[in-house]
Amino acid sequence: MSRAYAGKNIVVGVTGSIAAFKVAGWVSTLAKAEAQVSVVMTSAAQKFVTPLTFSSLSGTQTHTGMFDNESDEWMAHINLGREADLVIIAPASAETIARLAHGMSSDLLSTTVLATRAPIYICPAMNTRMFEHPATRENIAKLAGYGYQVIEPGVGMMACKEEGQGRLPEWEDVDEIFQRALTVHDLAGKKILVTAGPTREPIDPARFLSNRSSGKMGFSLAKAAFRRGAEVTLVAGPANLSTPVGVQRVNVQTAREMHDAVMKYADAADIVIKSAAVADYRAKSVYGEKVKKEKIGESLELERNPDILLELGKRKKKGQLLIGFAAESTRLEEEGKRKLEAKNLDMIAVNNINSDSTGFEVDSNQLLLITHESSEKLPFASKDRTADLLLNKVLELMQ
Ligand code: C5P
Repeated sequence: MSRAYAGKNIVVGVTGSIAAFKVAGWVSTLAKAEAQVSVVMTSAAQKFVTPLTFSSLSGTQTHTGMFDNESDEWMAHINLGREADLVIIAPASAETIARLAHGMSSDLLSTTVLATRAPIYICPAMNTRMFEHPATRENIAKLAGYGYQVIEPGVGMMACKEEGQGRLPEWEDVDEIFQRALTVHDLAGKKILVTAGPTREPIDPARFLSNRSSGKMGFSLAKAAFRRGAEVTLVAGPANLSTPVGVQRVNVQTAREMHDAVMKYADAADIVIKSAAVADYRAKSVYGEKVKKEKIGESLELERNPDILLELGKRKKKGQLLIGFAAESTRLEEEGKRKLEAKNLDMIAVNNINSDSTGFEVDSNQLLLITHESSEKLPFASKDRTADLLLNKVLELMQ
C-alpha cells in the first residue's frame, strides 16, 4: 500500500449520480491507506447511497448539510476546505459541475470548494448526451480555467444502457493521479530516462535469447519519478506490466533497438537510469523461418551487443547524471565499484540475485547504492519504496 495518502486530509464530494456506489470503494481504499477522509454528500447523492455507508467506510461522520448539526458541523464549510490536502469530487454530476462553474455556494460541497486552496479533482460521471451538451462542456472548460483538474470520464456501457463517454474511471486509473497531487514535486522540471525489462534476441520466429528480468524495478522508478514531478520516458523491453500513468513508454525488443531508443532520448535527459537487463549477446544468424534443430547443431554462434551504458558514459553531458544497475551474485561491492568507474557512472545500484526475495521477478528488493563518495545498503523493501529511496539519493547527487 502506498504511503502517499497516510495522514493526509482528503475531502471526497459525492454527488447525485449512480456511480456514487463506486466511490464507496475509493473511500474504503483511502481510509485503509490511512488518509483522513471527510465525505461530503449532496442531497441528490443520498438518494443513491446512504451517508451511513460512507461513515462506516471512512470512519468519520459523513457531512450532508451546512445547517443540520449545530455543534460538529458548525463552520464545516470553512474547516473542511481549510484543512484539506486534496479535494476529490466523484462522481461529479452535471448539476454540481454547473454550480461550481458559477461559483455558487448553495450547499456544503460547493461552499467547501470555494473555501479551499487545496488541489481539486473533478471526476464527471453522467449520461453521454448530458456530458456532451454544450452547457456541460462550457462549464467543464470553466472549471479547468479556475485551475481545477478535470479527469475525463471513460467510454463504455452506461447504467442507462447507452454506450458512450460518461463512465466514472476505475480506481486504478485515478489512484496514481491523486498520489501525485499529494506528493512533493522535488523532481519538477527534470527529464528522466529510465530503461527497464529484459531484451529479447531472436534466433528464429519461435525462439529467442533473454533473461529473467521482469521490468518491475524500472517501472517502479518511472512511476515514482513521475509522481515526484519529473517528465519521464521509459524505454522498456518485453515486460508484462501496464504503463505507469503519465509516463511516455517506448517499447523495444532487442538490445540494438534499446540502444537506438536510448540514444534518441538521452541527450535531452537530465538523469538516465539504466535498470534494464540488456542481453550481452545476440545470435549471429537470425532465421526468417523456424529453423530445424539439426541445422543449428550443438552450438549457437553469438556476437556482442552494444554496451549502451558504456556509450552513454562516454558521451555524458555536463550536469547529466548517469545511474547504472548491476545484477551480481558474488563480490557485490567490488563489482559495483569496478563498473561505476569503467562506465563513467555517477551511481550504480547493485542487486543481489542470489536471494529469492530480491532481484529478478519479485516485488521486493535490497539495493547496494555505490557512488564515488559512498556505499550504502538500502533497507529490504518493496520495489516501489526502493525506487523512492534511490531517487532520494539521486536528489542528493544533484545538489
Ligand atoms: O556490465 P553489466 O552488464 O553488468 O552492466 C549492467 C548495466 O549496464 C545495467 O545498467 C545495464 O542496463 C547496462 N548495460 C547496457 N548495455 C549492455 C549491457 C548492460 O546498457 N549491453
